[in-house]
Amino acid sequence: MLELAHTTKTHDESRQGEALDMIPTGQSTGRKLYIESYGCQMNFSDSEIVASILMENGFETTKDYRDADVVFINTCSIRENAEQRVRNRLKEFEAAKTKNPGMVVGVLGCMAERLKAKFLEEEKLVDVVVGPDAYRDLPNLIGKVDEGGRAVNVLLSREETYADISPVRLNSNGISAFISIMRGCDNMCSFCVVPFTRGRERSRDAASIVKEAQDLFDAGYKEVTLLGQNVDSYKYTAPVAEGEAPGATINFAQLLALVAEVSPELRIRFSTSHPKDITDEVLYTMAKYENICKYIHLPVQSGNSRVLELMNRTYDREWYMERVDAIRRIIPECGISTDVITGFCTETEEEHQETLSMMDYVKYDYAYMFAYSERPGTLAAKRYTDDIPEEVKKRRLTEVVDLQREHSLYRIQNFVGKVQKVLIEGFSKRSDQDFCGRNDQNTMVVFPVDPRYKVGDYVNVLGETCTSATLIGKIVD
Ligand code: SAH
Ligand code: SF4
Ligand code: F3S
Repeated sequence: MLELAHTTKTHDESRQGEALDMIPTGQSTGRKLYIESYGCQMNFSDSEIVASILMENGFETTKDYRDADVVFINTCSIRENAEQRVRNRLKEFEAAKTKNPGMVVGVLGCMAERLKAKFLEEEKLVDVVVGPDAYRDLPNLIGKVDEGGRAVNVLLSREETYADISPVRLNSNGISAFISIMRGCDNMCSFCVVPFTRGRERSRDAASIVKEAQDLFDAGYKEVTLLGQNVDSYKYTAPVAEGEAPGATINFAQLLALVAEVSPELRIRFSTSHPKDITDEVLYTMAKYENICKYIHLPVQSGNSRVLELMNRTYDREWYMERVDAIRRIIPECGISTDVITGFCTETEEEHQETLSMMDYVKYDYAYMFAYSERPGTLAAKRYTDDIPEEVKKRRLTEVVDLQREHSLYRIQNFVGKVQKVLIEGFSKRSDQDFCGRNDQNTMVVFPVDPRYKVGDYVNVLGETCTSATLIGKIVD
């Protein structure tokens, strides 16, 4: 899910994207769209669908919101500060709208879905509120605003997967792309707002996924990341005509294999895996295909079984450890990252210690770590008191972060002195004399430019030194 995984966070609401200047694919209207995204990779991927729909309707995109006729902000509700950030950003759009009263300001995504029409009352600036399953309606909704109205469509769908829409690749390096393979989530983790903002889980037509991967490869892309809130529960059965026998159901392991078969030169990543659903079949498929990256994002949330039960994660500490053991057994070199929440309702000091000991057990390559933030409407908000004081949540978070720093360093040091296969994704942020890319385990690797190679090539890099976030090395033949 990531700018280069270890520098940009998978699920972090702080990520921010802007559209590149692109010309319309439909009859031009001369109108300009600016779209900015927050939240998880799913939102970034959705923004590419939104851009595609509007470009079909004659829009071009712009990188500068002051220059835009339509300004969209694709929002995240996962934690309170994610929503706050969006509200602050909306304030910044105010001056532009005052200057250009015809400018349409739209809120898309999870916050739109959560707040619905209330958004129009709370934020006078906003003209359109559109939930994640209603993007096909955008041209119509913009039309309503053009006629002087304000518009809302937050209908969730059981079917919509935008399977037929070919996303416009925004902010792309031309090498890596996301492919949404499913939408929504049926899990109801008690802390989580996603089932309410994204609706029921549904899987996208496997053939359309494989075709998208093939089209990307044909266009020069070298890496695809398959996206879903819980990719392991992917399940697709092609509809058949009446009277015909039902076709075979494709599960995630089978989908992975189909995408891996597109080309050995196309790298496959995926996110997010759920500990309760990740199967040995998925692990064996990863082991079988060299081009499926040996990296799994496996959010643990807590290392304590009682807290996991309150979180409604439906696995316990032992189950999680067994899944980690299976990964280590079947794919010994696999990188593992995680998400951790500190200070969930009623979490005791001993229970927090179990999260730390779980981290010691796994020694994650990377982790996304959060203090619990109560979200209105979730099961936890209804059932439990958010009773851990803010300073305790923060102190526990600091302990988790400090320990993770040690583990990240430990993992990355293991790559020093070893040769890594790296896909050159671009130039290093610090210097155009250096390339950057990631190894299989998603570790960022930086190494001097070698004129024999270009962005998009695979190279062997010998790790020479490291920081806790980056491996530094040189190309070897
Ligand atoms: N589908 C993914 C997670 C999506 S949300 C999964 O099941 O793992 C990304 C991460 O945000 C979660 O893994 C969790 O660690 C964190 N998160 C979600 N809700 C939160 C909340 N209310 N407070 C703090 N962190 C939260
Ligand atoms: Fe949220 Fe749980 Fe679904 Fe992940 S699996 S999106 S944490 S409800
Ligand atoms: Fe945020 Fe929605 Fe993703 S709440 S994390 S943008 S699914």
